[in-house]
Amino acid sequence: MNIKKRILTGDRPTGKLHIGHYLGSLQNRVKLQDEYDQYIIIADVQALTDNYNNPEKVRKNVFEVTMDNLACGINPNKSNIFIQSMIPEIAELTVFYSNLVTVARLERNPTVKTEIQQKKELFGEDGGSVTYGFLGYPVSQTADITVFNANLVPVGEDQLPMIEQAREIVRKFNGMYGEILVEPEAMVGKISRVKGLDGNNKMGKSLNNAIYLADDEDQIRAKVRSAITDSSKIKKNDPANPEICMVGYYHEIFNKENKEKVFYECRNGLRGCVDCKNELSKAIIENLKEIREKRKYYEENPKIVEEILMEGTKKARQVAKDTMYKVKESMRINYFNS
Ligand code: TRP
Ligand code: SF4
Repeated sequence: MNIKKRILTGDRPTGKLHIGHYLGSLQNRVKLQDEYDQYIIIADVQALTDNYNNPEKVRKNVFEVTMDNLACGINPNKSNIFIQSMIPEIAELTVFYSNLVTVARLERNPTVKTEIQQKKELFGEDGGSVTYGFLGYPVSQTADITVFNANLVPVGEDQLPMIEQAREIVRKFNGMYGEILVEPEAMVGKISRVKGLDGNNKMGKSLNNAIYLADDEDQIRAKVRSAITDSSKIKKNDPANPEICMVGYYHEIFNKENKEKVFYECRNGLRGCVDCKNELSKAIIENLKEIREKRKYYEENPKIVEEILMEGTKKARQVAKDTMYKVKESMRINYFNS
């Protein structure tokens, strides 16, 4: 008997994952897989809500993101990793849920609201870019979670409205058709956000501000060289402020043991930026060594990655089918015992 609680987590395959993803969620995921029954969704259907005009990109990144997860230590014997579009029950359940939520409610969802605002800033007030599919992604995300009877969803504070929306839909469904669905709960972790190398609040926002898990040693060195430092420091022996330097910021994350020394030497003009960056590159390269090597193994063995996805999807599909059987029964649309 499986008494472990089930977690649903995952990523949109829109790009390779970077160290921000690693520190913010993947590291946590690797820990959780021992204690929980963890399902990891590669959310290609959700990725298409924003990238419907670029399917090649989504397809490619399904494999990149899977390799990133495996490289970080996701063990397919402990976590179940699968492709969203290969579980048609999710799409089916989304349609049924769409009756249980108003358009106004979706427009009020703070996460959706922010994203629509960002789209308007990019594309103009007509909002012509907000599709029916995009507006509805919290509904399909509710189907992702509930079709697998997930108890817990690890989220950052900013994702709480998404879980609240899911809980509302579940309560409405259960109240109307019968207690079929598990009401999921948010598992709010201290999701740390990591700034970009250029000081941008979000990593991955611009080219060269992110270190990807797939980056090789030379790429890491080049990116660290381009990191923004305290611009008042001109000469090697000028004192500077490591608190306003992205290199200082990353020493704090990847070179903790030496942070005090680095900061002291920077403040007192005892260290040049070139050496300081070299020391940081070394620390990052060392820290990510295992991940990089594991990723390389999967890159060279794509059949193994496919196998893992196929197995995970097969297992997930069976769970989804079982839920849909009950859902349809309760909704009185179980004709001819199908
Ligand atoms: N929204 C998540 C992201 O942006 C991906 C995702 C899709 C997801 N469905 C989910 C996460 C269900 C948790 C639960 O990466
Ligand atoms: Fe930044 Fe290091 Fe230069 Fe100080 S010495 S400004 S911490 S790169």
